[in-house]
Amino acid sequence: MSDRYRELSVELGERSYPIFIGEDLLGSQDLSSYVSGAQVMIVTNETIAPLYLDAMVTMLSADYKVDTCILPDGEVYKTLETYSMIMTSLLEAKHNRTTTVIALGGGVVGDMAGFAAATYQRGVPFIQVPTTLLSQVDSSVGGKTGVNHPLGKNMIGAFYQPQAVIIDTDTLSSLPQRELSAGMAEVIKYGLICDVPFFDWLEQEMPVLMALDNDKISDAIYRSCLAKATVVAQDEREGGIRAILNLGHTFGHAIETQMGYGNWLHGEAVAAGSVLAMDLSWRMGNVTDGDFSRSVALFQAANLPVLPPAEMTLDHFTQRMALDKKVLDGSLRLVLLGALGEAIVTSDFPMEDFNACLLDALEASKQASLAVS
Ligand code: NAD
Ligand code: GLY
Repeated sequence: MSDRYRELSVELGERSYPIFIGEDLLGSQDLSSYVSGAQVMIVTNETIAPLYLDAMVTMLSADYKVDTCILPDGEVYKTLETYSMIMTSLLEAKHNRTTTVIALGGGVVGDMAGFAAATYQRGVPFIQVPTTLLSQVDSSVGGKTGVNHPLGKNMIGAFYQPQAVIIDTDTLSSLPQRELSAGMAEVIKYGLICDVPFFDWLEQEMPVLMALDNDKISDAIYRSCLAKATVVAQDEREGGIRAILNLGHTFGHAIETQMGYGNWLHGEAVAAGSVLAMDLSWRMGNVTDGDFSRSVALFQAANLPVLPPAEMTLDHFTQRMALDKKVLDGSLRLVLLGALGEAIVTSDFPMEDFNACLLDALEASKQASLAVS
C-alpha cells in the first residue's frame, strides 16, 4: 500500500474496521487481510467501470477469482430490481458463503452492494471503495445499506458493517463539479452538528477545497470520517445520538422523493434541507442571525442550493416527512441545532415556526425562479 495514507478506525468491538485515506490506493493496496475466501465480486456501475474497474481487477486477479457486476448508473436504479441483479450475478458465478463483495463507486453502489452483501446467503463480507466525495465522507462509513422504495428513500435495508473502507482521493479528479458540491453538503454537515473549529476551517478553505487541493481535501475527508466514526461508535443502530448525522435529511428526503429520484442529488437536497433545519432552529432562538447567515453562505460557497424546489408545497413536505424513519409513535422528530456545532433531535418545535419556515422558503424559491425565467 502507498505510504501516503492515513488510517482511522470505526470502533465497534468485533465489527471494528479501518478506514484508509490517501492517494493512489485504488489498485495498489493489499486487501488480503479483509478478503477471507477465494472469490471476490466487484460491484460497480457503467460510469465507474471504464475509469477504475481494470485497476482493481488486475490487482485482485493474482490472488482471487474475480467476478464483476456492472449496474446501471443513477439514484433511480437504487431499487430492489437492481439489488436483485447483484444476487443473480453472485449466483450465476457460483459465489459461496466465503465470497467477498467489493463496492466500487458512490453511495448508490455502496448502499446496494452493502445490502446485497448483508443478505446474500445470510451475509458475506464486503469492502467499501468509495469514489465520490459524498461516499468517502459519509455513506461508506457506518454500515447503513439499502435501496429506495417509490414511497420513500432508503426504506428497505440493513445495518451491515464493511471489513474496511479504502478511500483513494485520486478518484475525485474525474468527479463532475456538481457531484463534488453534493459531497461538500455532508462535509459541512459535520461542522454544523458537532465541530465548530471544522466549520470555521471550512469557511476559510472552501475555495481551495472546491479546486480539489489534495492535502486539504484529504484533511476534510479525514475530519469528516473521524466525526462519523465517533458518532457511529457510540450508537451503531441509531437508537439515539446517530440521528444527528441526519441534519437536513428529513426535509431533504422529502425533496428527493417528491422531485423524482436523481433530479435533485442527495447532497443538494441535504443542503437545502439543512438550511431549513437551521432556519427553524433560528426561529426557535437557538441559532444567532450571524451563525445562520454564515451557514447559508458556506453552502453557497460550495455551489449548493439553499432553497427548496419552487415546485414543492407545504403539503408535499408534510406528507413526505410523515414517512421519515425518525417518526416515532406518529410524531415527527427533526434534527435541529441547539447552537452552532450542537445538534439536537427533537419533536418539540412550534408547528407555526415549522410551517412558516417552509412557506417562507418556498415563496423565496418561487420568487428566485421567476427572477431567472
Ligand atoms: P452516486 O452514487 O449516484 O454517484 C454520483 C454520480 O457520480 C454517479 O453518476 C456515479 O456513477 C458517478 N461517479 C462516482 N464516482 C465517480 C468518479 N470518481 N468519477 C466520475 N464519476 C463518478 O451518488 P453519491 O452522492 O455518491 O451517493 C448518494 C447516495 O448515497 C444516495 O442514495 C444516498 O441515499 C446515499 N447515502 C447513504 C448514506 C449511508 O450512510 N449509507 C449516507 C449518505 C448518503
Ligand atoms: N448518513 C447518516 C448515517 O449514516 O447515520
